[in-house]
Amino acid sequence: MGRVYDDVRLAGAYQVGNEMPAGALRVWAEVIGGFAPRPAPVVVEIGAGTGMFCAALAEWGRASLVVGVDPSVAMLGEAVRYNAHPRVRYVGGCADAVPTREGLFDLALLSRVVHHLPDRRACARELARVLRPDGVVVIRTTFRERLDALVYHYWPRLRDSDEQRFPGREEVVADFTACGFAVREIGSLVQPVTASLREFHARMTTRPQSKFTHLTAAEYDEGLRRLAIDAAAEPEDTPRPVPERYDIAVFARA
Ligand SMILES: C[S@@+](CC[C@H](N)C(=O)[O-])C[C@H]1O[C@@H](n2cnc3c(N)ncnc32)[C@H](O)[C@@H]1O
Repeated sequence: MGRVYDDVRLAGAYQVGNEMPAGALRVWAEVIGGFAPRPAPVVVEIGAGTGMFCAALAEWGRASLVVGVDPSVAMLGEAVRYNAHPRVRYVGGCADAVPTREGLFDLALLSRVVHHLPDRRACARELARVLRPDGVVVIRTTFRERLDALVYHYWPRLRDSDEQRFPGREEVVADFTACGFAVREIGSLVQPVTASLREFHARMTTRPQSKFTHLTAAEYDEGLRRLAIDAAAEPEDTPRPVPERYDIAVFARA
């Protein structure tokens, strides 16, 4: 699989196109940070992208240090631009080759990245190396069984391509348990991703996620046209926040 996030256009669209309302990001950071085994945890985010979770974990997630690891130079450039923070460091690296010594981290986050990994078990083995013995892995994703985001209403064919791309819950559990982890908890959380359908439409005009590369131009245009009609019909004085549910799987060393 090619690394789509090396693409400078996509990297440039990602942060603004995926920014959450500040309150929602804070809730996410508090929930994720709350899984850490100790106060002021040292955190690694694998596939940190533009760093929105790194900065949020440093700000609201109790983290004393966050290392954001990503193979995309373009995404890391955006991370430095948008999400620099005194307790965050961004470094080049991959899920199966984290450039740090063993036993350093209390918590590893993989947000919206597990479907990009060419070898999940190699990632799980690498996390077992870099985590402390009581460290935890938090996976934030959409498992294949539950592809119910609003994008699929406007671009139904995205559900087909995402069914091919996203792993199922049991596949992820099998890969991590094979590498010495035990399931601590599996759940999900819904938060708004935009404050209104108009804002959601404005974001989608930038094709801010890799999934859009799987559509033809005509398919993309047709979905955007339908979304534009619904967004224009949204009363300006009663905007409807767009919610999105993410699955959360938490693993601890067995
Ligand atoms: C959808 S973005 C998620 C960014 C961020 N975690 C978030 O939730 O906003 C996926 C990121 O995973 C990175 N990625 C792709 N393959 C990877 C790999 N093998 N190891 C680590 N990161 C990878 C991409 O470069 C991209 O920045």
